[in-house]
Amino acid sequence: MAPGQVAEGISPGPGAAGRKVFVKTYGCQMNVYDSERMTDALVPQGFSATDSVEDADLIILNTCHIREKAAEKVYSELGRLRKLKAERAESGKQTMIGVAGCVAQAEGEEIARRAPVVDLVFGPQTYHRLPELVTRARAGESVVETEFEIEAKFRHLSTPSAAPAPAGRRGPVSAFLTVQEGCDKFCTFCVVPYTRGAEVSRDVDQIVAEAERLAARGVREVTLLGQNVNAWHGKGPDGRAWGLGELLHRLAGVEGLDRLRYTTSHPRDMDDALIAAHRDLPEVMPYLHLPVQSGSDRILKAMNRRHTRDDYFRLIDRIREGRPDLALSCDFIVGFPGETDADFRDTMDLIERVGFASAFTFKYSPRPGTPGATMDEHVPEAVMNERLQELQALVARQQKAFNQSLVGTVCDVLVEKRGRNPGQVTGRSPWLQPVQIDADESLIGEIVAVEITGREANSLFARRVSGQDDGQAHPQRVHM
Ligand code: 5AD
Ligand code: SF4
Repeated sequence: MAPGQVAEGISPGPGAAGRKVFVKTYGCQMNVYDSERMTDALVPQGFSATDSVEDADLIILNTCHIREKAAEKVYSELGRLRKLKAERAESGKQTMIGVAGCVAQAEGEEIARRAPVVDLVFGPQTYHRLPELVTRARAGESVVETEFEIEAKFRHLSTPSAAPAPAGRRGPVSAFLTVQEGCDKFCTFCVVPYTRGAEVSRDVDQIVAEAERLAARGVREVTLLGQNVNAWHGKGPDGRAWGLGELLHRLAGVEGLDRLRYTTSHPRDMDDALIAAHRDLPEVMPYLHLPVQSGSDRILKAMNRRHTRDDYFRLIDRIREGRPDLALSCDFIVGFPGETDADFRDTMDLIERVGFASAFTFKYSPRPGTPGATMDEHVPEAVMNERLQELQALVARQQKAFNQSLVGTVCDVLVEKRGRNPGQVTGRSPWLQPVQIDADESLIGEIVAVEITGREANSLFARRVSGQDDGQAHPQRVHM
């Protein structure tokens, strides 16, 4: 948002300057991005961000509905905040509490009813109106806004990165950029199509402008975000609807952007142009989060995934053909209604055959309002636990083997920040693992060639390789 744009017609009001906002983020990267935009939107109202909830004049819970008992967790957090609000009131301080995100969208009025401590409830498509909503809440109104106004949000909310990074401080070197929201896939277990609504894509010009602003601030890696990011089909400057492959080509041309990633994708939307972008663009990192959820055709059908296990195998083969060093990450659900031992074996077999560098694993839990919630044939909890453990053990073995296979090889690392210990910096490998390097902080923001010297469960250790040009080298490492 350009400062002042959203807050048009709203003055900060008396005593508004110096107020602090604390945003607690649950869930996915999309929420992390949204939380940052919410804080940005409040700057013209005199708010600045704080890391301390006790100091906050406005507390926002940016919620996620994907996980089990999400709403209950929000209500118990609100119970704790009620006490904090009362304590602050005793010392004469006003505290406003807002609930945002997918739980806000799903629960709406119910939140204000069950937790009167809440001053404002607003869904993911209304963040560009936050200054106005806060002003109304301050005036004593109980605000509940859960309209879908996604185009308006995209029009208004872009990063405030036109402003240079504060003097003496570097901005982040890796940033998120939302390119689409919502989803039209309607997997039978998932609430996203209900809480985030139909798929909406941002236009190319808007995305490029935001990417250029980020690059001008020193960002070298951008991760494009969307609930179903590879379904993105934004309008190009030529009036045509572009696909994600074409967008990646355009963004690869943005001066200063050296690394591109995108998440989360659906197998059905990996089209030829996107697969070719993995092959042709060195900027597109060889790491792809491509959830399959299950390896059983029967369960995939019941999940309404609209692809088979063979489709998935063929797809992975095609992407790896152009990019042999591609590492894959995945989401799996165990215990979907009706999942038999044989179905679960199919999932394990798929994992063995594909080989994953990492995975997120979930026990199925019904979400009210989804078709899955009305399916019987529940899998007993004990069976789900057993399956989850077995699956996690297999993925952990694969992750370890993958990380071990990198030891002794040379790769590029984008150095992001200070490391764990003095004299260390931390960056990311092309495959997204955190890498600890013994090197000086002056390297932050650089892409450096390193030799991987060791590994832990989730991270790598490395030393700089001297006498070699830094840049985007392309190690031809064959996957496992
Ligand atoms: N139960 C369990 N896991 C779920 N996910 C989404 N909905 C559910 C549910 N009802 C998982 C999927 C998705 C990830 C973000 O969360 O694996 O890809
Ligand atoms: Fe949910 Fe992803 Fe399926 Fe869309 S594609 S319904 S976001 S699991």
